[in-house]
Amino acid sequence: MYDNRPIGVIDSGVGGLTVAKEFTNILPKESIIYLGDNINVPYGNKTEEEIYRLTKDMIDFLIKKDVKLIAVACNTISSLLDKYFLDFNIPIISIIEPVTNYVISQDLKKVGVLATNFTIKSATYERLLKGKNKDIQVISEACPTLAGLIDNGDYTDKEIEIIIDLHMNNILNQKKVEDIILGCTHYPIVMEKFHKISSNINFINPAYEQVLYIKEYLEKQGKVSNLETSTFEIYTTGQKEIYIEMINLLSTKLPNKIEIVNTKG
Ligand code: SIN
Repeated sequence: MYDNRPIGVIDSGVGGLTVAKEFTNILPKESIIYLGDNINVPYGNKTEEEIYRLTKDMIDFLIKKDVKLIAVACNTISSLLDKYFLDFNIPIISIIEPVTNYVISQDLKKVGVLATNFTIKSATYERLLKGKNKDIQVISEACPTLAGLIDNGDYTDKEIEIIIDLHMNNILNQKKVEDIILGCTHYPIVMEKFHKISSNINFINPAYEQVLYIKEYLEKQGKVSNLETSTFEIYTTGQKEIYIEMINLLSTKLPNKIEIVNTKG
């Protein structure tokens, strides 16, 4: 059995392109409808109520596009999924759960998590990881500025490097750790900078694990696509230009279209 309807991908901004890129590598026959709420990015410094309201608008938008599943390519939103988004009539897949399964499967004793204020305050990573292995040590570090800066596109290499350096020092001063989860989908966009500053650290990109998880899920449900030519559409509540810039930076598939939309219901 096949289901050729598109997969919806939501993010506060361009960070979810790191997930879209994994879809084109791992599930190239799936059509993708990407929605980035760039006008409201970053979500990581907002309140729970604001994030819920904005996310609900995005989900409603994608349901109208008849997607078969929604991949939440935003850690901040994913940390609220269990509380608010279990009762929708469509599968909504977190980016956090799959990467915690991966960390446990690797039998790591210690792991760092770098994420937004909201994600770190929610302690979702810590709760899920310790729920699977109570002895694992989780070193959490909140980074309030990096996602917004990347989404804005108006940054210098130096600015990004100073921020990464600060947070890496904060993590490494607490504990010697070899593996760090980049718990915000914007961060792998500047992966090269993370490697430059901390070349001996294994940075884990949750996008890869999320798409593998979705592949397994669709196969089990008999809902993979068998399209010969899949499509990639981008909708944004902000500007189109940043998408062109980030798609070039990530060397990912070019979209069939980019359109500015208003998601308010
Ligand atoms: C943000 O909007 O603050 C970052 C998105 C994320 O948490 O992945």
